[in-house]
Amino acid sequence: MAKIKTIGILTSGGDAPGMNAAIRAVTRAGIYNGFEIKAVYRGYDGLITDDIKPFTTENVSGIIGQGGTILKTARSKAFATVEGRKTAYDNLVKEGIDALVVIGGNGSLTGAMKFAQEHDFCCIGLPGTIDNDLYGTDSTIGYDTTMNTIVECVDRIRDTAQSHERIFFVEVMGRDAGFLAQNSAIASGAEAAIIPEDSTDVDQLARFMERGIRKSKRSCIVIVSESPKCGAMYYADRVRKEFPDYDVRVSILGHLQRGGRPSARDRILASSTGVGAVEAIMQGQRNIMVGVRNNEVVYVPLSEAIRSDKPFDRKLIKVLDELSI
Ligand code: F6P
Repeated sequence: MAKIKTIGILTSGGDAPGMNAAIRAVTRAGIYNGFEIKAVYRGYDGLITDDIKPFTTENVSGIIGQGGTILKTARSKAFATVEGRKTAYDNLVKEGIDALVVIGGNGSLTGAMKFAQEHDFCCIGLPGTIDNDLYGTDSTIGYDTTMNTIVECVDRIRDTAQSHERIFFVEVMGRDAGFLAQNSAIASGAEAAIIPEDSTDVDQLARFMERGIRKSKRSCIVIVSESPKCGAMYYADRVRKEFPDYDVRVSILGHLQRGGRPSARDRILASSTGVGAVEAIMQGQRNIMVGVRNNEVVYVPLSEAIRSDKPFDRKLIKVLDELSI
């Protein structure tokens, strides 16, 4: 295998607070260890359009505390095609890039895995998503910050919910994963969480209402994981129909959950996985995601990282139920 001299770096998919800290870490650790660094702009689209520039340590100075991503990001449709990935490969060769660090979530790392297999290319993933749905790492870059943002919002919603004695359905992001909803519900003292991990076999709203929450509390907050069919609006409408005397409101937190300065935890996770990515390249690792488990940096095969069944700690459901009486 030829010696790796130049590392490309890109961010892809939904932005997440801490991505800049990860870009900084890969750039600095790369340069420290003698590599050239090239930044790819606008995710995989930038590989296809050759939107690539050399990076020095100055390019990443002062960004550790900034939200978003200085490299911009995209959900590339072109990279999902064989032709798109071939053009991307040709541009990588032209730019002299021989390893690629991809900071992104499930879809982005799936793209990296496909690309690595098709073109026998060294791809290293960093877990960059607020959803925390990547397998093999305890947390993902952006998850902690977003959780704190949600908790701050719910604290504010509680003020008005209590004043008006209302039921609030607060919708949070997380696509197909309930980590944000369940844990932010616990951290904000919400009365319930409605999460995808639980939705196939139980009517979570009925279970919650049966607990007779309104007997002990005049107001309550239910955190709902976003879902195209059964989001906060759906549950609010059901309560309005089934319990017409309840005063119901909905708050969809939306993209404000993705912005803001990364928490210290996310900056540390981004920094240690960024350094871990460069170390992995030096060790000759290929096609892995760098995660952190039990405070140890770990290398997880990309095929494992994108598994859709990241374990959800069901004890957390009991914790929330018991504490919300
Ligand atoms: O994957 C991160 C995420 O924030 C999901 O939680 C959410 O479903 C999605 O991205 C929203 O994507 P977009 O910003 O493209 O609408």
